[in-house]
Amino acid sequence: MFYKIAQKVMFQMNPEQAHNVAMTGLRATGNSPLNCFYRQDIIPAPVTVMGITFPNPVGLAAGMDKDGEAIDAFAAMGFGHIEVGTVTPRPQPGNDLPRLFRIKPAKAIINRMGFNNKGVDHLVANLKAARSGALVGVNIGKNRDTPVEQGKDDYLICMEKVYEYAAYIAVNISSPNTPGLRTLQYGELLDELLSALKAKQKELAEKHGKYVPIALKIAPDLTPDEIEKIAESLIKNEFDGAIATNTTLTRDGVNGLKNSNETGGLSGKPLNELSTKIIKQLADALKGKMPIIGVGGINSAEDALAKIDAGAEMVQIYSGFIYQGPQLIKEISDAFRTK
Ligand SMILES: Cc1cc2nc3c(=O)[nH]c(=O)nc-3n(C[C@H](O)[C@H](O)[C@H](O)COP(=O)(O)O)c2cc1C
Repeated sequence: MFYKIAQKVMFQMNPEQAHNVAMTGLRATGNSPLNCFYRQDIIPAPVTVMGITFPNPVGLAAGMDKDGEAIDAFAAMGFGHIEVGTVTPRPQPGNDLPRLFRIKPAKAIINRMGFNNKGVDHLVANLKAARSGALVGVNIGKNRDTPVEQGKDDYLICMEKVYEYAAYIAVNISSPNTPGLRTLQYGELLDELLSALKAKQKELAEKHGKYVPIALKIAPDLTPDEIEKIAESLIKNEFDGAIATNTTLTRDGVNGLKNSNETGGLSGKPLNELSTKIIKQLADALKGKMPIIGVGGINSAEDALAKIDAGAEMVQIYSGFIYQGPQLIKEISDAFRTK
């Protein structure tokens, strides 16, 4: 009920303004009695993925809380994990406004944010300040002005800085809004990146006496052959998991609707089937060697269970959370528990 009212108000604002207002409110109330407006008790539905036991299988996808500002508020809503980021080594403003668009009739969003974030040091301060004890994954990326060939160094810097404070680390090479980033999904660049990250993980595990799993987040716009090659590289480099998928460059399901011609990545309902198909292909290619976290277009418990059927172990939501509210966390978790 509260979310329906809040959503009515926020949908009167432009999407980025609504996002900023919501994040400010959540940040201010996360640890106060005012969190009663969105606090939810979720019946535990534990799931162990990448060696971590999550209280339930529903996480917040990356991009909502890029700087880890409202971790405790999202924890109060009942998310089983919260993926913060994408964070880059240095702060950067992202692309020019407007860069975030609703396509309401399709329950979709197009964004070309371009990794706007306050930099990894700011994120680490927020990770240290979080009090809820929530499991927080940190999604890492490269600065826009770092050449792709040197992108690896940006990932290593971020990994080193967040390692101690992260439940897991997600490596984002699949955002469509940083020029050249998706080229890291192919061939030698991919292999080099994954092997460097694996070596760094081993070094940091030793240094901190703590093993933090690493997962690769992939795009939905890949051919079966490309998925096969990514899976080979993930297995070879002993990654701990994969996150599928990021937003899509396709416009199936929104053609002709207002805002559908905007440049950027499409998320929400129209992405659901494509993302589930990619999860299935990836699961076949990985042959059970590592878990998949399924994300993309989940708007109902049924959509989430379809991701699990396709081979995912747990799920994340972003656009569905905007359109349905925190209730969606509960619906999915309950369906998972009773399936
Ligand atoms: C506004 C917006 C910003 C996003 N930013 C990021 C990001 O920084 N890093 C990332 O890995 N994914 C990002 N994503 C992608 C989501 O994490 C998710 O993979 C995608 O939206 C598909 O899920 P959904 O259909 O439930 O939204 C973003 C999505 C949206 C809508």
